[in-house]
Amino acid sequence: MDAPTVAIYGANGHTGRLVAAELLARGARVLLAGRDGAALDALAAELAELADSTRDAAEAAPADGPARVRTRAVSLDDRDGLRGLAEECAVVVHCAGPFAETAVPVAEAAVAGRCHYVDHAVEPHPVKKLFDTMGAAAERAGIVMVPQLSFYGGVADLLAAAVTEGMTGVDRLTVGYSVTGWRMTPAAVRTAELLIGEIDRVTFADGAQRVGPVEIRNTVFPFPPPVGPRTMIAPFPSGEVVTIPRHVPARSVESQLTASTFEEQQVFTSQDATPEERARTEFTVAVQATAPGGGGRNGHVRGRDIWWVGALASAEAAVRLARGEGPSKAGVLSTAEAFPAVPFLHRLEELGAFTLHL
Ligand SMILES: NC(=O)c1ccc[n+]([C@@H]2O[C@H](COP(=O)([O-])OP(=O)(O)OC[C@H]3O[C@@H](n4cnc5c(N)ncnc54)[C@H](OP(=O)(O)O)[C@@H]3O)[C@@H](O)[C@H]2O)c1
Repeated sequence: MDAPTVAIYGANGHTGRLVAAELLARGARVLLAGRDGAALDALAAELAELADSTRDAAEAAPADGPARVRTRAVSLDDRDGLRGLAEECAVVVHCAGPFAETAVPVAEAAVAGRCHYVDHAVEPHPVKKLFDTMGAAAERAGIVMVPQLSFYGGVADLLAAAVTEGMTGVDRLTVGYSVTGWRMTPAAVRTAELLIGEIDRVTFADGAQRVGPVEIRNTVFPFPPPVGPRTMIAPFPSGEVVTIPRHVPARSVESQLTASTFEEQQVFTSQDATPEERARTEFTVAVQATAPGGGGRNGHVRGRDIWWVGALASAEAAVRLARGEGPSKAGVLSTAEAFPAVPFLHRLEELGAFTLHL
């Protein structure tokens, strides 16, 4: 049987390329999509060699079947084109941001074309929007939509589920990100600019989601050694404030990022960095869950190259969804609602994404 096709929208961006390479390495067929046909064709030529050399190539693409790497130039305002793309694929991995501008047309096409959907959003608002507006349509279409299945978001969502497994109540759940060496891509810089200037933020406190202005503060998060306690920007606007309360019985959820991350000189000025330079990030993602009567639990992951880890997580999810190994229920789901948290984290550890400490 032919391998399933996974579409990557925004394939010629840094994240899209990494996702495409991961999928090809796993034997999938890829449909590289985006608005720039010439850039997609150039990428297809680069990836064709990888497609031929991977272990499952012959099985995935018999000589009389379609090529393993195809391209499709389609803009976000071309509804019919996007729908056609979705109809041809088992899954679309959406890699074009900022997602505040791009999420809805691709998500709507996935519903119309009955194709599973995974994205790389960081921003809480588009994540909230998919949960608030697309759940019923996704259920009717029988598809699974998982926003923010990436480094920021998906990994913390899984970790929160793993750390709190069996806890009947959680007073406060804090996600601490320690990131060094971040070299943002053009789309990441635009996303950061939008997020930094955002007035109305999504928060989750006292058991309720709210949208409104918040006071940005500095606090200290106790990372395990060798990172140790660090000054943090709190809250850091990332979509797990929307996803984690869906499955963790927490009264408050907040994400925080090391203040030093944005003090590094290269972070906002590396739009032209090479993939090798971008790979030089180091990270710890830690979750601390406090119990109502005192005590609580901690867990963390530690590794390098946040871009690759995000791509790996979404490719793993796409392969599972394409093979019919996804959740039994359709709808918009968080990463940990869609996939069993501990086995999924162990799988990412096995693939080299990070070391897991639970
Ligand atoms: N949650 C996470 O941990 C995580 C991890 C990685 C990436 N991300 C997010 O993913 C997005 C992409 O990141 P990246 O590193 O791949 O950025 P990038 O290298 O700058 O690539 C951006 C891609 O998006 C496409 N794009 C942007 N706006 C578009 C529009 N209006 N219509 C069609 N295509 C559009 C670009 O197409 P053109 O080449 O035609 O401009 C390009 O293919 C960013 O928003 C970033 O924040 C999140």
